[in-house]
Amino acid sequence: MKLVLVVAAALIDADGRVLIAQRPEGKTLAGLWEFPGGKLEPGERPEAALIRELHEELGITVKEACLAPLTFASHAYDDFHLLMPLYICRRWEGLAISKEGQNLKWVRPNKLRDYPMPAADIPLIPHLTGLL
Ligand code: C5P
Repeated sequence: MKLVLVVAAALIDADGRVLIAQRPEGKTLAGLWEFPGGKLEPGERPEAALIRELHEELGITVKEACLAPLTFASHAYDDFHLLMPLYICRRWEGLAISKEGQNLKWVRPNKLRDYPMPAADIPLIPHLTGLL
């Protein structure tokens, strides 16, 4: 089965809330809420990919030293296997805004279950509630 590598971030604000983004119409899993991030380009390191994606999607600048690996998702979808490390990030430059038309929400970790998420993201939630 094809392996897809995606990297994601739990951006945490000063109030302990986590940023989630809604997948827009026209994309697979449209309407579901996910931790921001995206696919690695060939040869790209996960941290570099995440810094690039967060800048493209949210307009923020993240330093590699501010990314701490927390856990990873490993999920077999019908047509591919997704491997997705999740990094915690509490410091960045700029205000996170929607650069690609996606809805954004800052959510308390204990409220994440109110937002439908892709199957791969759901097992990540207890790692965040346990942390904050
Ligand atoms: O965002 P993109 O469409 O490039 O991601 C590739 C695939 O990885 C998606 O179709 C989705 O199935 C999966 N994905 C996920 N959770 C995320 C990001 C992506 O399950 N947070």
